[in-house]
Amino acid sequence: MIVLGIESSCDETAAAVIQDGKIMLSNVIASSMELHAKYGGVIPEIAARSHIEAIIPTIEAALLTAQVSWSDIDTIAVTYGAGLSGSLLIGVLAARTLAIIKKMPLYAVNHVEAHVYANFLTDTTLDGYVLRENPPLFPLLALIVSGGHTQLVFFKNHGDYQILGRTKDDAVGEAFDKVAKIIGLAYPGGPSIANLATTGDGETYVFPKARMANPYDFSFSGLKTAVLRLAQEQIGEDFNFPSKNVADRLSEPQKINIAASFQRIAIETIVDKTIRAYSEFQPASVVIAGGVAANLELRRQLTDRLPIPIDYIDPKLCTDNAAMVGALGYFQATAERYKSNPYGLRIQPNLSM
Ligand code: KG4
Ligand code: ZN
Repeated sequence: MIVLGIESSCDETAAAVIQDGKIMLSNVIASSMELHAKYGGVIPEIAARSHIEAIIPTIEAALLTAQVSWSDIDTIAVTYGAGLSGSLLIGVLAARTLAIIKKMPLYAVNHVEAHVYANFLTDTTLDGYVLRENPPLFPLLALIVSGGHTQLVFFKNHGDYQILGRTKDDAVGEAFDKVAKIIGLAYPGGPSIANLATTGDGETYVFPKARMANPYDFSFSGLKTAVLRLAQEQIGEDFNFPSKNVADRLSEPQKINIAASFQRIAIETIVDKTIRAYSEFQPASVVIAGGVAANLELRRQLTDRLPIPIDYIDPKLCTDNAAMVGALGYFQATAERYKSNPYGLRIQPNLSM
């Protein structure tokens, strides 16, 4: 079965052709990230306009790269939530229209769940990807860490899962982005902090780990505030000092060590909870997913502390893409789960798993 996956939930317009939920025939991504970088975050109106311009050429490029024609495609899968309304709308309208014109089944995909399915891609005709050798085994424990979501999910099987915990405030990727802004690094903050932290000492500053009633829940807003307070103290100011002026007064070594110390605690927090969930639920495999799963410190700590081996996907498949949407779309199509009416499918910006 060949699935065309379409993704437009945030600032990436993406389309991919996936065979049997595991073979990546194409994975095309047009990002409007540079347009947002100068504002330090995604501007929804700019993202929506970029999607309108990019959606058709991106889908055409996905078919061309995969060397397939419309008659080879069996199913369309599209992200319908969670995400920015104006962004989601473009991908969903394109998918609905194509499903009607090409008379194809349409499947509605949850973006957050789709991140996990990048782990099911085990083969490709494309150059430049390092994929897992085997798909993960069920029951599987998934740590989903992105710019919008942070959660631990226990999957008994495809479509049969239980949320163990989620963030009560900021997502971990959001904390990376906000801390990066405080210390004056470029957007997106995750890769900027990870790069700077490589030369720093993560033990320089001690930041608190949030304690939660449910040990699998997360909270990162206190950590972000703790970083701001420490940075203000380091430059000899109090909490009234505007955060946007802090970076100019920090020395390079201070920035490097704040990045490393923040990263150590943020990553240790998500790894602590993953190890605890592993011990309690004894899954056959553990996977990480979402933009923050590209973080090498996360991979190092998890490999170190997990009692079982863990396989990682190519960092390029951690951030938003449509290959993951096509992979999950395949498993949904085989079970006819979330088959949608192309005349009626609505976006769900606040969709959760
Ligand atoms: O999954 P994603 O592309 O979009 C959402 O669905 O949110 O995740 C983007 C997030 C951003 O917050 C970005 O800063 C973070 O992932 N990120 C990283 C790294 N690469 C991307 N965070 C930490 N380390 C990285 N190497
Ligand atoms: Zn995402």
